[in-house]
Amino acid sequence: MPSRIAEIRLVSSHREVYEPCDDSFALVDALLTDRTNLIEHNPKICMEIGCGSGYVITSLILLLKNEVPGVHYLATDTNPIAARVTNETLEAHGVEADVICTDIASCLENRLAGSVDVMVVNPPYVPTPEYEVGMEGIASAWAGGENGRTVIDKILPVVDHLLSEKGWFYLVTLTSNLPAEICLMMRKKGYAFRIVVQRSTDEENLLILKFWRDKDEESLDKEVFMSQFSRSFSSFMENQRR
Ligand SMILES: C[S@@+](CC[C@H](N)C(=O)[O-])C[C@H]1O[C@@H](n2cnc3c(N)ncnc32)[C@H](O)[C@@H]1O
Repeated sequence: MPSRIAEIRLVSSHREVYEPCDDSFALVDALLTDRTNLIEHNPKICMEIGCGSGYVITSLILLLKNEVPGVHYLATDTNPIAARVTNETLEAHGVEADVICTDIASCLENRLAGSVDVMVVNPPYVPTPEYEVGMEGIASAWAGGENGRTVIDKILPVVDHLLSEKGWFYLVTLTSNLPAEICLMMRKKGYAFRIVVQRSTDEENLLILKFWRDKDEESLDKEVFMSQFSRSFSSFMENQRR
């Protein structure tokens, strides 16, 4: 039976490109967990920002390939070697996407405005000194500036601009990125959220969040929202333990 996600042995690599790691696996697990919903969602355009090795976008394509016809896949990365490696990974799995070397989604923003149905992002989220953000090569894969939020905070408005009315957005975050604040920022743009996957490793506590437009959600009051987030987190953890 063909694999539903990318095979690590077929994922191309380069020392200047982020290797699939716990965060990449958690993001793909989130997509696998949501597979039935993704198929019913019937996306026309799916996109990844920061594709690195191509493991995530290739997995997304394989997840939907036989179930949802005619999907257009795109992936971007600032690192030109990552763009090359992603193309190699796609080719090794016999699938296709447009891979563009650009900052977030520059040069695509007009063409794709309001049309992306599924967006996936595993951003550089590690808290680092600000000067490390956007450095050339592998450092740009993880360096996230203060609270690991510098690149994330640039990505959020772009995603809002690109997502279609029914668009879904999957985002990898760390506890130190203050995910409740990220959810509040997205709430202010009219999005609801849910935690799809939580992973604790020796080094980090990861949350994969999913956002979608929901104009009816209540409360923009910060304190009320933060306690809603805590309750969502506790009930997610409770369900995990069962
Ligand atoms: C944590 S890695 C994730 C790689 C891959 N998606 C995965 O999950 O294995 C972050 C990726 O984002 C890319 N990146 C960093 N800043 C970016 C930006 N401003 N625009 C696009 N890609 C960016 C990095 O080059 C790196 O490949």
